[in-house]
Amino acid sequence: MSETPFLVTKFNKALHERGAFSCGVNDLDHWIKQSASSMVKDGKAAVYCLTDRKQLKDAEATGTKASVLGYYAICAHSIEPVDAPSLNKRFVHPIPAFYLTAIAVDASVQGKGVGTDLVVDAIQRCVALSEQIAAHAIVLDVREDDDYARRLSFYQSIGFEFINPGHDTKRVFLKMADAKASFR
Ligand SMILES: CC(C)(COP(=O)(O)OP(=O)(O)OC[C@H]1O[C@@H](n2cnc3c(N)ncnc32)[C@H](O)[C@@H]1OP(=O)(O)O)[C@@H](O)C(=O)NCCC(=O)NCCS
Repeated sequence: MSETPFLVTKFNKALHERGAFSCGVNDLDHWIKQSASSMVKDGKAAVYCLTDRKQLKDAEATGTKASVLGYYAICAHSIEPVDAPSLNKRFVHPIPAFYLTAIAVDASVQGKGVGTDLVVDAIQRCVALSEQIAAHAIVLDVREDDDYARRLSFYQSIGFEFINPGHDTKRVFLKMADAKASFR
């Protein structure tokens, strides 16, 4: 199988150039530039960056940096059963989950499947982790602005569903069992 031109690796300040990152949503640009390091340091999020594969290899070899073309952030999470009627109703205690804090793709490569690949990478990472620490679902909140409908259809095309249909238009989930079946 041929290699993709991109590589997703754990965020490394010394290797990932974030200065020019621009996805069209200011706070997501700001987050990777200004907040990612402290979020990682404080144990609030794990961050993974997508770069051009060759550029990253060259950067590693020469001690330079590769431009971030996309990123996502994940953290541990729990959901109150009352907030999640779509999930297993037998839960009494908070439902263990992974939370996709942020995902963004640089405008220069949007619309080419990179965002889908990044979400699939995040799902596969969660599936692997769930073999060691139980999690029932992956959840995220869809940003509600003018692009909400496009964004929602992006997540739905990957398999995410509303967690509280008719009441919560932001929060969507993918059950870990379905993630394992489709994306392992
Ligand atoms: C949403 C996003 C991550 C998708 O990445 P991508 O590489 O463009 O996605 P793909 O090429 O795999 O899939 C294309 C689909 O993504 C969605 N999408 C593409 N550009 C988008 C944008 N600027 N805003 C919202 N959704 C977008 C659409 O559903 C699109 O399908 P369509 O062309 O049929 O409408 C990317 O557009 C982005 O970073 N947007 C700005 C930041 C953002 O909205 N992050 C998510 C917050 S919840």
